[in-house]
Formats: sequence, C-alpha cells, structure tokens
Amino acid sequence: MSKAEFVVVANRLPVDHDPDSENGWRRSPGGLVTALEPVMRKADGAWVGWAGKPNLEVEPFDFEGTHLVPVSLNEDEVQNYYEGMSNDTFWPLYHDVIAAPRYRRAWWDSYVTVNRRFAEAAAAAAADGATVWVQDYQLQLVPQMVRELRPDLTIGYFHHIPFPAYGLFAQLPWRRQVIQGLLGADVIGFQRVADAGNFARAVRRVFHYETKATGIRVPNADGTTRRAIARAFPISIDTESYIELAQREDIKARAVEIRENLGNPKKILLGVDRLDYTKGIRHRLKAYGELLNDGRLSVEDVVLVQVASPSRERVEAYMQLRDEIELTVGRINGDRDTMDHSAIRYLHQAYPREEMVALYLAADVMLVTALRDGMNLVAKEYVASRVDNRGVLVLSEFAGAADELGSALLMNPHDIGGLKDTIVRAVEMPAAEQGRRMRSLRKRVRENDVERWSQLFLNALAKAKEPENNA
Ligand code: G6P
Repeated sequence: MSKAEFVVVANRLPVDHDPDSENGWRRSPGGLVTALEPVMRKADGAWVGWAGKPNLEVEPFDFEGTHLVPVSLNEDEVQNYYEGMSNDTFWPLYHDVIAAPRYRRAWWDSYVTVNRRFAEAAAAAAADGATVWVQDYQLQLVPQMVRELRPDLTIGYFHHIPFPAYGLFAQLPWRRQVIQGLLGADVIGFQRVADAGNFARAVRRVFHYETKATGIRVPNADGTTRRAIARAFPISIDTESYIELAQREDIKARAVEIRENLGNPKKILLGVDRLDYTKGIRHRLKAYGELLNDGRLSVEDVVLVQVASPSRERVEAYMQLRDEIELTVGRINGDRDTMDHSAIRYLHQAYPREEMVALYLAADVMLVTALRDGMNLVAKEYVASRVDNRGVLVLSEFAGAADELGSALLMNPHDIGGLKDTIVRAVEMPAAEQGRRMRSLRKRVRENDVERWSQLFLNALAKAKEPENNA
C-alpha cells in the first residue's frame, strides 16, 4: 500500500470483527466512528486502531474505501491499557471523579507500551509531510511519540471527553508525561472552551510554559520554541443522514408501531446511553420513580423507555452500576406496574441507527441527564431526527452539548427536585413552545454538523503549521 496523506489514529478501528459476516468485518456503531466516518470517506486516508478483541493479528486491509491498519493487543494489554489505565483511571478522573480513579503503576507501563505501538504504526503508515489526527484519552502520549519518530508530520489531537480542573488532574501520578504527550500535537482540540482552559492551566502549573489566548509556547530540544494551539471544536453528528432517516416512510411507520406496542401512552419519555456512571441514569430513575410515587405522573399516561447499551462490562464500576440500575428498574416496575402498563421499558441492548431514529420520533421527551459528558451526541441525534419540530430535550448543564443547545430545558441532574420539575414541565409543554425551541435547536445542529467540525479542526491544523506561527 502506498503511504497515506491523512492518518487517523484511534483506540478502535471503525469496524468490529464479525466471523459471521461476509468478509469477517462489519462497520461498528459508536459516537466516534459515526463522527469520523464521513471525513474518512472523503479523504483517501488510513485508520490505525484496535479491532476490539485480544490477540487478533490481522494484516492491514481495505474496507468500504478506507485503508485499515489493525494494532494488536494481548489479553494483558486489554486489561491494563484499555480496561485499567484508560477506563478505570483516566475515564473517572476526567469525569470529575464520579467514580474513584485507581492509580496502578503496571497499568501506566502498559499504557506507555501500547501508545508507542500506535505511534509506530501511524509513523509507518504516513507519507512525507502527511497529517496525522490522533483521537481521545486512550492515546494521549501518541502525539509526542509520533513527533519524535516523524518530525515532518503535522499532528492533531482531539480530546472527546472532558479535561478536568487542575485540582483534580493534579492527582495523576503521571501528569507531566501526559501533558508532554499532548503537547506533541500542533493543535489540541477540546469539546468545550472550559476544557481547553483547564488544559492550558495544567500546562502552566506543571511546566510554566507561556500561554496566550489559544497559543502555547512549547520549547524545542534545540532551544527554539514552537506554538501549539489548544482550543474548543465542539463535535457533532452527520445531521443530514438523521434527517433523511427521519423522513423515511418505513421509519415513520415504525415510530407509530413503537408507540402502539407501548400501549399508546400520552407521553413517551426516553433515555439512550451507554451503561456508564457518567450518564446520570440513576438520578433520572430516582426523579422518575418519585414523580410516579408523588402521583405527579401516572403509568396510565407515561412510560419511560431506557436504552442502556452494554459497555466496558469487565470493569468493576460498570458491573456495579448495572446491578444498581437493574435493581432500581425492577423495584420501580414492581411497585408501579399494572397488568396493562409498565413504568419503565428497560433495554440493555444496542440498536441500529434506523431503530434509534424511530425511537427518537416516538419520544415526546428526551432525557439527557449526564453528570459529566464531553459532548453527548444523543442530544444532537434526537434534535436532528425531530423533522416535525416536536419533542422536548431535557439536557444536563454538565454535558458539552449544553454550550450549544441553550434552547433545551437545561438542568442540574444532582438537584433531584429541580429535575422532577423539569420533567413535568417537559411533559406538559404546549406544542407551540416545543416548536419554537426545537426549531432553534435544529438550526444549530444543522449548521454545526460533523463535517464542519472536522473542517474547522483540519483548517486550524493546516494554519498552525504555517512557518510564521513558529519561531
Ligand atoms: C466515549 C469515548 C470513545 C469511546 C466510546 C465507547 O465516547 O470518548 O473514545 O470509544 O466512549 O467506549 P469504548 O470503551 O467501548 O471504546
């Protein structure tokens, strides 16, 4: 294969290994994959990533127009680099320690080893002077490692999850190495302005480098300096594809069918999340359960559909969360169900996009109650799908999406009383107000779609490499 002018490096490949399918692979769902799919289709690029299973040794191959370069992880590395350091240290630390992060030296060692493997694969795949775009917290050391291997490359990094305040970040025993790893990029992108600010502050506190607006002066080994940019680029979705699905007759019919199957309730409330403690599912269930107990909502009139897709099932905090949620759902249903009506329809499953759009169309109220979330693309998917300008989005202030979607009903999910009032307000909202709010939300999601996101990022990256920015 000739070398690529554009290389994406992400923990996961955009495909899942599937021995039953025709060629052994199928396109995987997931926010990140969905976000980058249209960009990769256009640019003739390579994608370096893990195939999602241990010990899978696969040669690079082409899949639906993208050159895929698999990076293999053994069972120990899956446990230490992926489940341990990425999802039991960085994930909880960066989401404001909602769960307690664990700091294990063996996990860190594995993280360094695996980051180096990704960096080497990217360096080998890239043509002279190519652009490499590294994705997310699993690969924070890759930018600097790639720079050392290939100083000719332009390197971008995008951080899909929050970057915490320094008071929390400072806990990390390897904070110097992480900052140094990220500063290897020419542009370091974040979801929110606040994340970029937290990062710049960490750079000042740890290294005392000068930061001015979005620029950071980073010293080179030879005594000169270069300028790295750290700023917000809020990610989005492939809005047009959701609009097209929402207009399809079979999907509209499916939405009606879903409503009928649920017993034609007056209002359908919907939650859609990976089963993750950052998503505030427990707070949502608590508020909803209390509203039924108080008699402010009744199972005769409303139902909550909660889709919780399985995630990181071998990490202890996720196993515990699943138990707690399933206990709570069982209790609420046990207490409140009638022979004809169920309080909660709980689905620990993942669904194809078509089914999700039908569900969005059927749902009168969408509940996004994250305690902390980089962006939350579900909020944007719901808005994009509401081609009828109906429906109400209840959105946590702690999700990145709140910066853009100010016409949603914004709320603090820790305030259960406030959350209950907001849910009632959403259930009772007159159609005219729904329309006003939804039109304004839709305008934003149409304007800032994922293609614009990647354009803005890649333009900033091209500009950052211009010689006058480096002295
Ligand atoms: C978040 C992260 C992604 C990650 C996804 C699914 O959206 O930002 O990097 O891929 O969760 O998590 P998983 O651990 O299954 O890749």
